[in-house]
Amino acid sequence: MNNDNGRQFDVVGISGSLRATSHNSALLSAAKELAPANVNVAIFDIKDIPFYDGDVEKAGDPLAVAALKEAIRASHGVLVVTPEYNHGIPGVLMNVLDWASRDNAAGSLLGKPATVMGAGGMSGAGRAQGHLHTVLAATGALVMAKPGVLVATPGDKFDDQARLVDEETRDFVRAHMTAFREWMALIGRGASVPVTA
Ligand SMILES: Cc1cc2nc3c(=O)[nH]c(=O)nc-3n(C[C@H](O)[C@H](O)[C@H](O)COP(=O)(O)O)c2cc1C
Repeated sequence: MNNDNGRQFDVVGISGSLRATSHNSALLSAAKELAPANVNVAIFDIKDIPFYDGDVEKAGDPLAVAALKEAIRASHGVLVVTPEYNHGIPGVLMNVLDWASRDNAAGSLLGKPATVMGAGGMSGAGRAQGHLHTVLAATGALVMAKPGVLVATPGDKFDDQARLVDEETRDFVRAHMTAFREWMALIGRGASVPVTA
C-alpha cells in the first residue's frame, strides 16, 4: 500500500479473559508471534485493574490504570481479543475500556487505531466482537472492520502449550495483523503519537 514496511509500530494487546489457560490470551500471543516484523505487540495484563469508580478516579488513577492509559497513549494501535460472555464482552474487559475511555484530555483511545479478534464457542465470539466494535467506536477509537479473526471451537486449534497450531487460523491471524499495520499507517496520521518515517 505504501512505504510503511520499514517503520516500527507499537501495539498494546489486551485479552479479555483472566483465565491462565485462556484461548483468547493464547490467540493474543499468536497475534504477537505472527505480526509483521515491524509490528511489536506488548501484552498488557488487565488483572490489576480495579473496578471503575468515579470517586477513586477523582482521587487519582490507581497505578494499574495510569499504566494502562500510558501504554495506550504511547502506542500506535490497540488490539483487543475477547471471549463471548452472554452474547457480549466480559465485564472485566468492559471495565478496562471504561477506564481507558476516561482519558479524554490526552485522548488515549480517541483517534487510536484499534482492532479486535476473538475465540470461543461455535461462532468464534462473533457477537462479542460486534459488541466490542460498538464499545470501541464509542470511545473514539478507529476500529478496523476487516478482515477479522473468529476462532471457533478453539480447543481444536491450540496445543497443550497454548500455541496456535491450526495452519489456516495462523494464516488468518497473519493476514489480519498485516492489514492492521496498513490501518495504523493510514489512520495513525491523526493519532496522539506522531508516526515518523
Ligand atoms: C459467563 C459466561 C458466559 C458465556 N457466554 C457465552 C456466549 O454467550 N456465547 C459463547 O459462544 N460462549 C459463551 N461462553 C463460553 C466462553 O466464550 C468460553 O468459555 C471461552 O472459551 C472463554 O474464553 P477463554 O478461553 O479466553 O477464557 C460463556 C462463558 C462464561 C463464563
